[in-house]
Amino acid sequence: MPQSNLSPELTTTGLTSLLDGQGRKPTRLLQILIEIQAAQHWISPENIDQLAAELNLPRARIEGVIGFYSFLHAEPAGQFRLLFSDNITDRMLGNQNLLEYLCNKLWLERGHVSEDGLVSVDTTSCTGLCDQGPAMLANGMAIPRLTRERLDEIAELVLQKVPVTQWPAELFVIENNIQRREILLANSMQPGDALRAAIAQVCVPGSAVEAAANQRSWREGIPSVALCAPVSTLEEIKRSNLRGRGGAGFTTGLKWEACRNAPGGEDNRTRYVVCNADEGEPGTFKDRVLLTTQADLLFEGMTLCAFAINAKQGFLYLRGEYRYLLEPLNAVLQRRRDANLLGANILGQAGFDFDIEIHLGAGAYVCGEESALIESLEGKRGIPRNRPPYPVTHGYLDKPTTVNNVETFCAAALVGLHGGDWYRGIGTAKSAGTKILSVSGDCARPGIYEYPFGVTVRQVLIDCGAENTLAVQVSGPSGVCIGADEFDRRIAFEDLATAGAFMVFDESRDMFEVARNFAHFFAHESCGFCTPCRVGTAMLKATMDKIAIGHGTQYDLAEIDQLNRILLQSAHCGLGHTACNPTLDTLKRFRPTYERRLKSLDFEPAFDLDGALATARRMTGRDDAGAHLSMEAES
Ligand SMILES: Cc1cc2nc3c(=O)[nH]c(=O)nc-3n(C[C@H](O)[C@H](O)[C@H](O)COP(=O)(O)O)c2cc1C
Ligand code: SF4
Repeated sequence: MPQSNLSPELTTTGLTSLLDGQGRKPTRLLQILIEIQAAQHWISPENIDQLAAELNLPRARIEGVIGFYSFLHAEPAGQFRLLFSDNITDRMLGNQNLLEYLCNKLWLERGHVSEDGLVSVDTTSCTGLCDQGPAMLANGMAIPRLTRERLDEIAELVLQKVPVTQWPAELFVIENNIQRREILLANSMQPGDALRAAIAQVCVPGSAVEAAANQRSWREGIPSVALCAPVSTLEEIKRSNLRGRGGAGFTTGLKWEACRNAPGGEDNRTRYVVCNADEGEPGTFKDRVLLTTQADLLFEGMTLCAFAINAKQGFLYLRGEYRYLLEPLNAVLQRRRDANLLGANILGQAGFDFDIEIHLGAGAYVCGEESALIESLEGKRGIPRNRPPYPVTHGYLDKPTTVNNVETFCAAALVGLHGGDWYRGIGTAKSAGTKILSVSGDCARPGIYEYPFGVTVRQVLIDCGAENTLAVQVSGPSGVCIGADEFDRRIAFEDLATAGAFMVFDESRDMFEVARNFAHFFAHESCGFCTPCRVGTAMLKATMDKIAIGHGTQYDLAEIDQLNRILLQSAHCGLGHTACNPTLDTLKRFRPTYERRLKSLDFEPAFDLDGALATARRMTGRDDAGAHLSMEAES
């Protein structure tokens, strides 16, 4: 194995000090592995031995974690690892040609490390840069707007062995592309505004809040007067009708209340606030922009949640693809600590103690599922847990945990300042507030659009300059694909619920290829824990590939329905449940694009039986008609 690419600093002592920096906590195993990977470009058997000894963990546990995350490697993957984002929108922008171009320039075969161990080029799932693709990650750092000229520059830097940290800053410039602002993106809140408003709340004598505070006081052993403000905060969030923005749309106030009601350990304060910034759904990038432009609002929302549920510790789980945001976000956290908006006795309120740590992900879409995310936060493989129990009672380290999306916490901060009635007055009766959409694909102005709930798809298409639109994929592959006759449908929980992705496809696009890309995505991202999803997503991918090369039949189309039923009934988490959505939606709305690829036969085996017998024929020296299944059948 080529080891020439190992940086010298990670000797045994180097690793020891890295472990010290991470507090030697097994819960930080993933963070430790990410650091080793960044320093050496892979994790060697010697590293694993040392980690096992120093963290007192079985070697298999460490290997299991490395094997789970696609950004970690137990084999050298090149001093420079260049990963092209492979969402359908990257493909529409020509990423495949560019990938070939770069491989040729570097004399490389895609997916293989160069013989000198210098570089490898491959693909990765959507990197959240669909508004400025095609994009890539260079040793984990995002580079948007790839062109041949930019790739020439990158190839030169690689061949000159210039470390990625010294590449021109211009390569890494990422635009926010905010095209439309409403209450959230146009907010003028100052850090601490919502917290000050929350702390200042007092109980109106005889009010429902006072009654709730009295009841809680009796249960929790805290003086009723100290509970007025947290209870009022919770009531405002409930009154706002705020629902989660991460996809499932659960009512935020009820989630916070359930967490607050769950026993929080001996001090009754061992609860956790977790922000889900994993944003792995292809076509979604609004959290990236919120993390860049609204970090204070987000942390304010998390701190408000801690105040309401009585928690001391928070985590932001940041997807590995957004690694470049780690330092800026840590700087905002530090600024908030300095301003007493985090830490002990926040804003002088005795006992209001809360702080936030950032954990990085490492390239696993399933870690966006909240229980998988918690496993990952604990330093394990991100395999979704059995539910119930839910995280609100048994979450991080088995303690009550509130997990919310980035946008949900930002909206909660607005509610904290302006109140629940103000918030529920915006949007529709069942969908309060605004929704931020990540618009990409065939349109003149891709980017971020904030609307009050209830906006029609048609309006969004007009605003983003889309013409001759054939279809829109709302909420990413796990969402829904709609055709032109449905463009008057509304973005709202009661109609088109969405986590934010809004991918536009014009009449030049082939919706079969769109669905095929999504089938590949699900097969790649299935964590493999349960058989129906592991096998089912692979079968779906194989069926779509079979149709693509002209071997599909009506029987295959019918089988997809059957597969979907199995996945819905028996897959363990939402990934498996939604994996067939894009195929079924496009089959329903754009069936001719499938049918013109089909053979007229009713059935064609996916497995080439005669081909599989080739080895046996070679070994027996036979190649006569009787040794061939097809010839046998014909004779
Ligand atoms: C496969 C899968 C991936 C998910 N990815 C995300 C994600 O990237 N971000 C997110 O907020 N929620 C994601 N979710 C939803 C979370 O499980 C959870 O419902 C959400 O974080 C709760 O926050 P909310 O109530 O604020 O929406 C995902 C769910 C599944 C099944
Ligand atoms: S449904 Fe898929 S992603 Fe979810 S646990 Fe099962 S194998 Fe993993």
